[in-house]
Amino acid sequence: MEKLWAGRQSAALDGVADEFNSSISVDSRMFRQDIKGSMAHAAMLAKQKIISNADADAMIDALGDILDDIESGALAIDARAEDIHTFVETELTRRIGDAGKRLHTARSRNDQVALDTRLYLKSEAAEISALSKELIRAILGKAEEYKTAIMPGYTHLQRAQPILFSHHILAYAAMLLRDLDRLADWQKRCDVSPIGCCALAGTTYDTDRRFEAAVLGFGDIALNSIDGVSDRDFCVELMSCLAIMMMHLSRFSEELILWSSWEFKFIELSDEYTTGSSIMPQKKNPDMAELVRGKTGRVYGDLVSLLTTLKGLPLAYNKDMQEDKECVFDAVDTVKMCLRVFAPMIASATVLEDNMKKAASAGFINATDLADYLTKKGMPFRTAYKLTGQLVARCAERGFTLESLPIEEYKSLSSLFEDDIYGEIDLAACVKKRASEGGTSPESVEAQIAYVRETLSKK
Ligand code: ARG
Repeated sequence: MEKLWAGRQSAALDGVADEFNSSISVDSRMFRQDIKGSMAHAAMLAKQKIISNADADAMIDALGDILDDIESGALAIDARAEDIHTFVETELTRRIGDAGKRLHTARSRNDQVALDTRLYLKSEAAEISALSKELIRAILGKAEEYKTAIMPGYTHLQRAQPILFSHHILAYAAMLLRDLDRLADWQKRCDVSPIGCCALAGTTYDTDRRFEAAVLGFGDIALNSIDGVSDRDFCVELMSCLAIMMMHLSRFSEELILWSSWEFKFIELSDEYTTGSSIMPQKKNPDMAELVRGKTGRVYGDLVSLLTTLKGLPLAYNKDMQEDKECVFDAVDTVKMCLRVFAPMIASATVLEDNMKKAASAGFINATDLADYLTKKGMPFRTAYKLTGQLVARCAERGFTLESLPIEEYKSLSSLFEDDIYGEIDLAACVKKRASEGGTSPESVEAQIAYVRETLSKK
């Protein structure tokens, strides 16, 4: 296929160099954006009387047909074209002749590719937001289903205090709400049209950049044409939002993997989201969660890869920048796949409440509540803390839990202890008492669920 830039060169590009230079295998997915962008460009050129209405109409009709034909499969994208821009323009010219050759007036592939990529990523980010909301809904569903299930809360992966399982997983809903906010904020900065910046310096034609931007649904246009074609912040920033989101999914995955181990046995992932082993018949492996954890590294890599590509690039466009799409598309595809598998994996998981409760009953997880009991009866906290430590040691020595230690033992250490101590250190009571805003009490968790639901309905 003839190059759009064939003119000065007298020899054709070497075969290997041609393959090396080509980006169609990566950018062909932007065919819709490329065609829509060209339609808007044709309309702007006609409005500004740079081309005739008849030419613009012919272009817009033919571009519409090309879009339909690609979508229906009647037209295959030719892999020999250098990129999607070359393919669309060549096909247009093949269909309408000279009028097609007027499309590239007051435009360059430099502003065109920046436009296509922004348009494409805007719609991908909207899809990622929708998928994230699905995951938040799945989390809410599990939180409702197991609202009062008690589990050990951990610090240093050591049992720390009893918490509600619903409280624990709502932490992930809070993270994902921030991820949604970040994407919405990114959307504002991506909502800037580069089209009309041309190669780098603007154009001598009397174009209307704002009209073209408005037709394409942008809120603003790039202030500076050199920046307009050099800027890939929108790719980097989207990948950094996605890297943070993957970090959240990876932490969640890690917990799911731990919780489904024989050592924990807090949850059981459904058969649809686990695999077996080819040699060990007893195995039920949490592969999906492991893959999400693994793919997090890949998304981080995409981000660092583009940052490194851009570092040190002089203004304005350089061919290095063609490498942007491979990273950002990979990040977007990966995150979408991860979210698609994550939401139903959560929705179909079973929580093994009894095992969680059993784990919470061991490990003196209610020791803080014991110290609080004494403090509330007038003992200074530090003294109460020490005395509780002695009680824990005594229990450990004699094989008791704090709940089963006889009252005489308690009384022998402090006369402040009365029979009501058992009610105070009961796990459900410990959880119920942590009624501070954002805490683990059932009322607080209820309020958190309501907040997440409400916020989600407004997004
Ligand atoms: N395929 C190129 C890219 O993805 C399009 C821009 C080419 N511009 C140029 N001056 N060679 O970046």
